[in-house]
Amino acid sequence: MSKGRFITLEGGEGSGKSTALSFIETWLTSHKIDYIATREPGGTELAEEIRALFLQEREEKVHELTELLLVFAARTQHINEKIKPAIEQGVWVLSDRFVDSSYVYQGAARSGDIKKIDILADWVLEGYLPDLTILLDVPVEIGLKRVEQRAKNDRLDRESVRFHETVRNAFLERASQHDHYKIVDASQPILGVNHDIEMCLQYLNNKH
Ligand code: TMP
Repeated sequence: MSKGRFITLEGGEGSGKSTALSFIETWLTSHKIDYIATREPGGTELAEEIRALFLQEREEKVHELTELLLVFAARTQHINEKIKPAIEQGVWVLSDRFVDSSYVYQGAARSGDIKKIDILADWVLEGYLPDLTILLDVPVEIGLKRVEQRAKNDRLDRESVRFHETVRNAFLERASQHDHYKIVDASQPILGVNHDIEMCLQYLNNKH
């Protein structure tokens, strides 16, 4: 049996990941591809509990290493309980964020030690890396405007514009350095976004 493909969706706040995710789900269903949709941090009962801890607003300063260890603790659970079993059974996995978010948020934006992230990734991922990462790229002012219109903002949504600029640039830099990335201009009208995403999916589906 062939292994399932692993697709991740990345982007800054307000980049339209939820809309893109439902478009991808519709595409996978119409192509009769067996898949699961999941997210990070989260994806299992325990990992979702860690997500809630991670995103909660609090008075206490959250140390950057604590952030990093929390997302990797959730990821360990997610990979072993959900991602690995699906891929091994030939089921495609579609994840809203994955390890690239750790490099960008805990690494670049929090100025964390990339070597520590490399070590954790090597330890935790067991080679389960995305076949395709779709980066939804949108200028920060547009993304933040979209987020403002939402009822609830979390601890990271409330970071400074500079933080979000760093996030955007770090994603673009990672995309330029890794072959599994495809950048989609998420500021264009939705039909254009969907068209570009479909091109990425067709490319992956035809790849052997
Ligand atoms: P989202 O549902 O808007 O994607 O929220 C998840 C938040 O968690 C987002 O602000 C990015 C952040 N995050 C990290 O900081 N590190 C990570 O490794 C992951 C997966 C997410």
